Amino acid sequence: MHTKDFISIHDLTLDEFHHLFDLGRDLKAHKEVYASALKGKTLAMIFEKQSLRTRVTFEVGIQQLGGFAVYLAPSDISLGKRESVQDVAKNLSRWVDGIMIRTFGHDICTGLAEHATIPVINGLTDLLHPCQAMADYFTMMEHRGTLKGLNVTYVGDGNNVAHSLMFGGAKAGANVAICCPKGYEPNPEIFRLATEDARETGATIRVLHDPKEAVRSADVIYTDVWASMGQEAEAEARKEIFKPYQVNAALMKLAKPDAIFMHCLPAHRGDEVTDDVIDSTQSVVYDEAENRLHMQKAVMVDLMKARG
Ligand code: CP
Ligand code: NVA
Repeated sequence: MHTKDFISIHDLTLDEFHHLFDLGRDLKAHKEVYASALKGKTLAMIFEKQSLRTRVTFEVGIQQLGGFAVYLAPSDISLGKRESVQDVAKNLSRWVDGIMIRTFGHDICTGLAEHATIPVINGLTDLLHPCQAMADYFTMMEHRGTLKGLNVTYVGDGNNVAHSLMFGGAKAGANVAICCPKGYEPNPEIFRLATEDARETGATIRVLHDPKEAVRSADVIYTDVWASMGQEAEAEARKEIFKPYQVNAALMKLAKPDAIFMHCLPAHRGDEVTDDVIDSTQSVVYDEAENRLHMQKAVMVDLMKARG
């Protein structure tokens, strides 16, 4: 990558975006070839929010590449409180070869990258979840063979996952529709940047409010929790607002008959998705979870190997 870090899909050139998929595909097919790719390298993993998938896939991923992970729990370093972001970045740069961070404010992630001399990987901020979207487009490619012209409809909150899907779709040439209640639209600046990126590939990025209209001719229907980590206080109020945006069997029927269902997980079954959809043969949610491992290994190999 031309940048030291992996913070946003928007930062990638088209070549870099496609290279990561090629690398991910090779890593998935030929795991043993890469068993020493990051031999002796250490990844610090900073978690200021909870995680199952991100923690396990990064930790297992670096091990499979011959390296090690150091897990820093939310209570460990107290970024910006016990110690400044700048000092954490400078200390870690002396000991480890890469940092993965899951945090709240996106500026904490960019601040860490600015002050660290080693690669920083965004493992989710309030604004973006790029590792998730890379794994998601990889999964779509596996199931559909191509991303160009694919209609991806996200139904729910215009959140971090929606933002990264917009950036990924723009690079991939997929048409992304975000369907959300009024007042819960994606960040306008992300929409502007994604629309700009989309011009290069012919993709379209739209924001809609009517789920029935949005899923018509969809190849992919995607949803996420209605209240993200950090928004727990709003969860009850959001349940009422988002009820019409539930992905259930009736909504799935309005999409293409072979449409796939996606969710980054964790899912709140019975809220944003019903059991009969997430457990159906159309659902590829565990493929997405598996592909987090392969795509993040690609990101780590690309960033951490090149820097000796
Ligand atoms: N999808 C995802 O990032 O899962 P975790 O929050 O469990 O890491
Ligand atoms: N939007 C969710 C994604 C979790 C992986 C959150 O930020 O909590």
